[in-house]
Amino acid sequence: MTKQPERTFTCPWWLLFTFDNPLRRLVHDPLKILSPFVKPGDTVLDVGCGMGYFSLGLAKLVGEKGKVIAADLQPQMLAGLLKRAKTAGLESRIQPQLSQPDRIGVNEPVDFALAFWMVHEVRGRREFLKEVHGLVKPGGKFLIVEPVIHVSGADFEQTIALSREIGFKATVKPRVAASRSILFEK
Ligand SMILES: C[S@@+](CC[C@H](N)C(=O)[O-])C[C@H]1O[C@@H](n2cnc3c(N)ncnc32)[C@H](O)[C@@H]1O
Repeated sequence: MTKQPERTFTCPWWLLFTFDNPLRRLVHDPLKILSPFVKPGDTVLDVGCGMGYFSLGLAKLVGEKGKVIAADLQPQMLAGLLKRAKTAGLESRIQPQLSQPDRIGVNEPVDFALAFWMVHEVRGRREFLKEVHGLVKPGGKFLIVEPVIHVSGADFEQTIALSREIGFKATVKPRVAASRSILFEK
């Protein structure tokens, strides 16, 4: 059985602005990164959503009939997300979820789940991946993207191995700047 790494650092809300700022769009275009995996009407999960940089892009992709469940541990992150969603006129498509460190807390099945630059922060990675697996519909997809600066190739392969053990099928490694990524299917 693959050993799971134990890390405890959680990106605080004030540190988020070091990378979640207008310049980020030059390297991480949410629509370009996510449009291959999401279609209008989908229900999707953005876990570890921070202030919603990707939740807003997802809300555009799912359209009026879709839904984005945006989950994070920190209330300040969800408050920032809701403010941005209101400004963008997308709040009706976004459902915030305050998570616990050991429980995402979502009960609804999803077509697609995104964990962008957050899995390395999760303590109890196996349980976390199991919870995501339980939420993704059969045939649904799960995209993990991790920052190269914090996650070694070996650490990332460990996450892939854990995800496989849980039942996800690894497919492609989409190219995302400054990141390691893997797309799973259930
Ligand atoms: C580095 S930030 C990335 C935010 C966002 N995905 C982005 O790319 O802009 C990681 C986020 O994951 C959240 N997080 C960490 N562990 C979590 C967990 N177990 N469940 C839900 N959110 C978590 C943190 O609170 C933080 O907002």
